Amino acid sequence: MFQFVTRVTLVAPVVCWLGYCPLATADQPSGTDAIVVDGTTFALNGDNVSYRFHVDNSTGDLFSDHFGGSVTGPIPTEISSAVNGWVGRPGRVRREFPDQGRGDFRTPAIRIRQTQGYTVSDLQYQSYEVKRGKPALSGLPSTFGDEDDVTTLIIHLYDHYSDVAADLSYSIFPKYDAIARSASITNKGQANITVESLASFSVDFPYEDLDMISLRGDWAREARRERRKVEYGSQSFGSSTGYSSHLNNPFLSLVNPSTTEASGEAWGFSLIYSGSFSVDVEKGSQGFTRALLGLNPSQLSWNLGPGETLGSPECVAVYSNNGIGGMSRSLHRLYRNNLIKSKFATDDRPPLLNSWEGLGFNYNESSIYQLAQESADLGIKLFVLDDGWFGDKYPRTSDTEGLGDWVPNPQRFPDGLAHAVNSITELKAANTSTDLRFGIWMEPEMVNPNSSLYREHPDWALHAGPYPRTERRNQLVLNVALPEVQDFIIKSVSDILNSANISYIKWDNNRGIHEMPSPSTDHSYMLGLYRVFSNLTTQFPDVLWEGCASGGGRFDPGVLQYFPQIWTSDDTDAIERITIQMGTSLAYPPSAMGAHLSAVPNQQTGRTLPVDFRGHVAMMGGSFGLELDPATTPEDDKAALPGLIELAGKVNPIILTGDMYRLSLPEDSDWPAVQFMSEDGNQTVLFYFQLNPRINHAIPWIRMQGLDSQAIYSVDGNVTYSGSTLMNIGLQFPFDTDYGSKVVFFEKQ
Ligand SMILES: *[C@@H]1O[C@H](CO)[C@@H](O)[C@H](O)[C@H]1NC(C)=O
Ligand SMILES: *[C@@H]1O[C@H](CO)[C@@H](O)[C@H](O)[C@H]1NC(C)=O
Ligand SMILES: *[C@@H]1O[C@H](CO)[C@@H](O)[C@H](O)[C@H]1NC(C)=O
Ligand SMILES: *[C@@H]1O[C@H](CO)[C@@H](O)[C@H](O)[C@H]1NC(C)=O
Ligand SMILES: *[C@@H]1O[C@H](CO)[C@@H](O)[C@H](O)[C@H]1NC(C)=O
Ligand SMILES: *[C@@H]1O[C@H](CO)[C@@H](O)[C@H](O)[C@H]1NC(C)=O
Ligand SMILES: *[C@@H]1O[C@H](CO)[C@@H](O)[C@H](O)[C@H]1NC(C)=O
Ligand SMILES: *[C@@H]1O[C@H](CO)[C@@H](O)[C@H](O)[C@H]1NC(C)=O
Ligand SMILES: *[C@@H]1O[C@H](CO)[C@@H](O)[C@H](O)[C@H]1NC(C)=O
Ligand SMILES: *[C@@H]1O[C@H](CO)[C@@H](O)[C@H](O)[C@H]1NC(C)=O
Repeated sequence: MFQFVTRVTLVAPVVCWLGYCPLATADQPSGTDAIVVDGTTFALNGDNVSYRFHVDNSTGDLFSDHFGGSVTGPIPTEISSAVNGWVGRPGRVRREFPDQGRGDFRTPAIRIRQTQGYTVSDLQYQSYEVKRGKPALSGLPSTFGDEDDVTTLIIHLYDHYSDVAADLSYSIFPKYDAIARSASITNKGQANITVESLASFSVDFPYEDLDMISLRGDWAREARRERRKVEYGSQSFGSSTGYSSHLNNPFLSLVNPSTTEASGEAWGFSLIYSGSFSVDVEKGSQGFTRALLGLNPSQLSWNLGPGETLGSPECVAVYSNNGIGGMSRSLHRLYRNNLIKSKFATDDRPPLLNSWEGLGFNYNESSIYQLAQESADLGIKLFVLDDGWFGDKYPRTSDTEGLGDWVPNPQRFPDGLAHAVNSITELKAANTSTDLRFGIWMEPEMVNPNSSLYREHPDWALHAGPYPRTERRNQLVLNVALPEVQDFIIKSVSDILNSANISYIKWDNNRGIHEMPSPSTDHSYMLGLYRVFSNLTTQFPDVLWEGCASGGGRFDPGVLQYFPQIWTSDDTDAIERITIQMGTSLAYPPSAMGAHLSAVPNQQTGRTLPVDFRGHVAMMGGSFGLELDPATTPEDDKAALPGLIELAGKVNPIILTGDMYRLSLPEDSDWPAVQFMSEDGNQTVLFYFQLNPRINHAIPWIRMQGLDSQAIYSVDGNVTYSGSTLMNIGLQFPFDTDYGSKVVFFEKQ
């Protein structure tokens, strides 16, 4: 039994060996309680979370003890059921980094195939280190923070039978009750090994009932919230598309069956990765629930030669006892402050107009200028030229050609792109002296067979030997795992950015990956892509980068490390968008969402909604914009646009830096509502919608959350109520049309 002694926090890395911990460790100054090591018992403590595990002294295995609300001091030892039947002890305990092949029949976090063919591993505890701050992951996006934000515990494991070393890294951000974990495998032996699976996070919950929540969808209907009971057996989801995908987001929440938006325990897991992934939730024969998130084992088979290392992506786990909403707010705060590197992370975003829904492929320099001028006259501050501006031998006038040839189309821009950009950036946003900014669309990872690039480098497109190269949207995917392809993309994008005054890039990606040269290309592609993202965003820090992948096909924390905003969905129908944006907000801060007011009837759904409703839904995203041609917009709608752009500008700082409360969900209510509150709590804005008309029926009360119950708040500069009244009684807002919407401001007095 390890005796629980005083808390020890280590400033310098200190190594303890199994069974022997140098006394010196206990004498280190204890700066924080974030990481407490007692012998071979480990505790990570946030403001309201504790995460505990220990080394099993008879096997050297790591056993999970607790992930939940704060605990202090010694904890009771878990009573294991008697070992009877086929399931031996490894299958009856809660494990931190489970392997397969020695009696744990559940899904493993790690599976390594030796040259001899077997996949048995026995990783035993060796030593640990504690570091203030957090080391970056090599070649992969990850959360960051200084010594005051985060403390890191690294556990060293070793398999003596095969000479494989594994490091588990746990970083605790106490303020956000967040733990970031990653794992790395090093081949210390003489022969090659193959890593067949490697989870970033793996933890076993005790025997209790849990629900799981995930985000599923498809193109144009992303982020549908799915809640189901965790049943015995395995319930897994993931992506094998090569990207994080619309189909399933790399996010998992576990909650108690009684947990709601506003109360109860909620755990959130978010994988910082943009490629194929796997999430597995398994309730084993003993009733424990295992949660695993990481690389997709079906697309890994990663060769490691002697001395080589494979690092997993990082997975963040947060805990809240303030319901699903509390879980989301912790993730939002962490991601805004400690994931997104862009200087625009919490900076006001210019309202933009994107040319796509207005002009499509059909434009020339003068019609683009005209659209830019009309945009500026409405108060738009950033004009974005979408698809169609490039290609010389294979001009991009439709989606059948040109991708890969990143030179401006000389027919459309006879005097060069810079000429067009200069005239556009001389325009001023209406009634201001602000220059209109210019942004452009690119899809650098793709190639049309109808392109000069493909004629020159057919081998740069992903392909599997003799199999046909399946086209989607007439295009193939470049093999971004190849350094020459990475350099080509870096050069193409740099050249365009250096050629004209461009202050925004929309980086699109419009198909999944099919024929792969080998399963491991999936991950090497991602490592290559992250090198490209990191290079370009370092070279061009003043550019506002927006991620996009047929909408939200790559809305993930990996992309957010480099790009502060992502186009949430190609579906801009405002009713659909309420569901999509609320779903996306389960894991991602609203500041990261691109959301536009688009023309009606809507291109995807054919629905016509009032312009205010469309505007109000769009301004709940951090990057507000328009997706229409002012010249063909009905006069009444057009007249409303300047006011909506101004209102969007007013709420934008709160959306970008504030907390979000999902007061009522569109799947539960005809009156969905979202509240945003500035970090200091002084300003609150309520978005309130009516989806369907209700005739001759009482009006519901909408109750606010998170206010200071003692404080007095003014409502739209008018009446005042106490925080407790607003939270416990609420307010009523009548709607006089269907598809009604309200934006209400609350100011703390
Ligand atoms: C392991 O711990 C148990 C109590 O948990 C103790 O009885 C036993 O002696 C320990 N074994 C070794 C080898 O330290
Ligand atoms: C943490 O707990 C304290 C008091 O128990 C509470 O005031 C605070 O709101 C909690 N923080 C979060 C992020 O839930
Ligand atoms: C062994 O690994 C090395 C280093 O990654 C690699 O170059 C070599 O091709 C591998 N050999 C085999 C037989 O897979
Ligand atoms: C540009 O397009 C507009 C609208 O389609 C057309 O009226 C105009 O003649 C075109 N200009 C040139 C130079 O082709
Ligand atoms: C600009 O000012 C004019 C004159 O005051 C006004 O009519 C127009 O609506 C303003 N435009 C915007 C976008 O605010
Ligand atoms: C190439 O473009 C032409 C139109 O210019 C189209 O008819 C053809 O299908 C395209 N070929 C491929 C392979 O996409
Ligand atoms: C680039 O465009 C911005 C925004 O329109 C403008 O403020 C800036 O002066 C321009 N820079 C150059 C060098 O033209
Ligand atoms: C970007 O990549 C190019 C090679 O493609 C290299 O020359 C340059 O130094 C890199 N820049 C940064 C900031 O990484
Ligand atoms: C928020 O309100 C408090 C108390 O009224 C005040 O001290 C503080 O300056 C306000 N913060 C801002 C940013 O206005
Ligand atoms: C204030 O309340 C009055 C009466 O209820 C209403 O007519 C007015 O529009 C309100 N003003 C604002 C700014 O909401």
